[in-house]
Amino acid sequence: SYLAKCCFPYLTSTDPACKIEVPERLTVSHETLVRTGLADRCVSVPVREATDAEILLAHSEEYLEAVKKTPYMSLEDLMEFTRQYGDVYFHPNIYHCAKLAAGAALQLVDSVMTGKVRNGMALVRPPGHHSMRSAANGFCVFNNVAIAAQYAKQKYGVQSVLYFSWHRYEHQKFWPHLRDSDYDIVGKEKGAGFNINVPWNKVGMENGDYLSVFCHVLLPVAYEFCPDLVLVCAGFDSAIGDPEGEMCATPDVFAHLTHLLMNLAGGKLCAVLEGGYNLTSLVQSVCQTVQTLLGDPVPRPASLKSPCISALESLQCVRSAHKAYWSCLKHAADLPASTISTRQIKLGEGEETTEKGEEEEKDAEEKVWPEPPKRVTPPVCAALVLPDDVACPEGCECFSFSEDLDPLLASKLRYG
Ligand SMILES: *[C@@H]1O[C@H](CO)[C@@H](O)[C@H](O)[C@H]1NC(C)=O
Repeated sequence: SYLAKCCFPYLTSTDPACKIEVPERLTVSHETLVRTGLADRCVSVPVREATDAEILLAHSEEYLEAVKKTPYMSLEDLMEFTRQYGDVYFHPNIYHCAKLAAGAALQLVDSVMTGKVRNGMALVRPPGHHSMRSAANGFCVFNNVAIAAQYAKQKYGVQSVLYFSWHRYEHQKFWPHLRDSDYDIVGKEKGAGFNINVPWNKVGMENGDYLSVFCHVLLPVAYEFCPDLVLVCAGFDSAIGDPEGEMCATPDVFAHLTHLLMNLAGGKLCAVLEGGYNLTSLVQSVCQTVQTLLGDPVPRPASLKSPCISALESLQCVRSAHKAYWSCLKHAADLPASTISTRQIKLGEGEETTEKGEEEEKDAEEKVWPEPPKRVTPPVCAALVLPDDVACPEGCECFSFSEDLDPLLASKLRYG
């Protein structure tokens, strides 16, 4: 596995929303990976800055040139510059860090595509997934994963891109209120069917909701698509306790989601950190993800409930919207017009929207969840029981039945 990190100091803005995208998200994640011994089992590759040409794979020249000026701006000009975008805060150092964040994603793609490592996770700030071709947005400056996808296409001849996103939507009432995030936006022309949106129309989605959508939408389509590389925008604001997401996925479910994705693309998976603002659940989720990437067995899921009605509704809407494009969804139900749809509810004047940052004042109920169970790394990868008169196959170490496993020998057989 691969680990990269970069960070920038506290921002100067006084906006309360910027109190959550803090350097500790990286430092505490990294410290915990070190303390638990997980970092020791990873290959650490130094980061580099993404070049202009690489950033331009996903962004416009005007935008890049504008961001380039930010390190030289006065605080006042920076504030002014920031105000044209939504929920993003420019620090004089952010351009440098954004180049490192995108560069880290590219280093990870290189390491995985050349077979140097099997998979990996890049711990980066600022995150990327909200940033647009010509605009910063939602804490994001450059779209690290979008750049990585274009880079993989260009450098490694990866063919087409299938995009899957699940996100808090609440019938478009949740920030950033984009009509484009609904289930029926499936992509245009050659790209039709390659844009899969799963809108969550309620908060509080649980493990069963996440796993159901994985099993009934993402995995069947992904198997049919048959990718050469899996890029994960690893946003843990979907995890329990997060003040932005307000969802209830427990950190151990990310072990399962990661594990399920590792069956695709010959295991070539690059996870790049995005959101996740509750330090406790963020750090636990990052550790679960990294430990799974290292190949350790996943924990047994704690009491799984059946998906809730709202999640099932979203799930069926997505399956129905994509049935024309994927043979695995061919028999998905057509939704009768009377079905409670997740379609846009036109926001009337004065209608309440859920704004970022508002949650802090809302006195959201304190969520409590158990620490994920400790996962032990088994000493032997796989055992083969053979009759005495069969020769030991190549690549196997032979033990007689009576013999106890020598701890030193066993340690050689560990996952590395
Ligand atoms: C994270 O969750 C814990 C447990 O509910 C809570 O005590 C803590 O305040 C949360 N932190 C943030 C930043 O929301």
